Amino acid sequence: MSSHFHHVPVLLAESADHLHLKPGAVVLDGTVGGGGHAETILDRTSPDGLLVGLDLDSEALAASAARLARFGERVHLVQASFRHLDTAVRELGLGQLDGVLLDLGVSSYQLDAPGRGFRFAEAQHVETPLDMRMDPSQGPSAADLLSRASADELQGWFQRYGELPGSKRLAQAITRCRAESPLRTTADLLRVIEEAGIGRGRRHNPATLVFQALRIAVNDELAALQEGLEMAISVLKPGGRLVVISYHSLEDRIVKQSFRSAARGCICPPRQPVCTCGRGPSLELDNRRPVGPTAEEEGQNPRSRSARLRAAKRISEAA
Ligand SMILES: C[S@@+](CC[C@H](N)C(=O)[O-])C[C@H]1O[C@@H](n2cnc3c(N)ncnc32)[C@H](O)[C@@H]1O
Repeated sequence: MSSHFHHVPVLLAESADHLHLKPGAVVLDGTVGGGGHAETILDRTSPDGLLVGLDLDSEALAASAARLARFGERVHLVQASFRHLDTAVRELGLGQLDGVLLDLGVSSYQLDAPGRGFRFAEAQHVETPLDMRMDPSQGPSAADLLSRASADELQGWFQRYGELPGSKRLAQAITRCRAESPLRTTADLLRVIEEAGIGRGRRHNPATLVFQALRIAVNDELAALQEGLEMAISVLKPGGRLVVISYHSLEDRIVKQSFRSAARGCICPPRQPVCTCGRGPSLELDNRRPVGPTAEEEGQNPRSRSARLRAAKRISEAA
């Protein structure tokens, strides 16, 4: 399986630079995937830096284990969500970390893997099960959610996670269609989207937004991101670096707001004259605006087009 893993790491040099890697550094890659970023981190922290790599996907972990084998005991791979990264750090007996990287979303490998159901292109011709789980051994699949969720829940997901015009119409079409036969494959879902007649004449295929919304719901991605960011800040040592690469506006909004709130510290209402929460800032932001790919990277790797990197330095709250 691992020999077929194909994924070109995005914003590789930029993320390594913002992590300020030094020999001996201890870095956690919360989305190790095929190990592209991890390999650069290990190279730049030679000879004795440590890398903890987390991923929900056992196939990704197998691929990164093969790719990173030459680093021997410097690598610790764990099948876990980054929302629990503090547990992984504690169980490995590591103290505070020098860096944390989160490269969000799905890998090209997952998108291309037949049977995972992440991609809708070619779905009319290929019967792919509607799965969409990052870890296919855990929790309900997209097909399970589509068979159980109420019309209101479905509408809420399509609105919040896909910002889809026609969310209500699609939710109603799904509940109508599933009463006749369950939606099991990507082709079944595409037929309902077509029948609901949403997004006609728009620039983007509405199926892109529907698939994005379902994937976010299946993997509880936005809540995991919010919690993962809090955990990441909590495990960094003062001076440690946090780097996050997001791929759509919902993710980037959460990263931006979490970073700004950690950089502000105080959570008192804005009009309160004197601070009573006593919270100081815990992050210092590298840039106000996110870093995107160069034209050259975009040309070589179209997947990088939507990537946005935000980076920050951990400061001690007393600072
Ligand atoms: C864009 S890929 C990372 C690619 C990696 N940086 C590389 O260079 O190969 C995102 C990875 O994050 C994983 N993932 C997504 N959500 C996760 C979560 N909450 N916890 C851990 N891994 C997650 C996916 O399974 C996928 O392998």
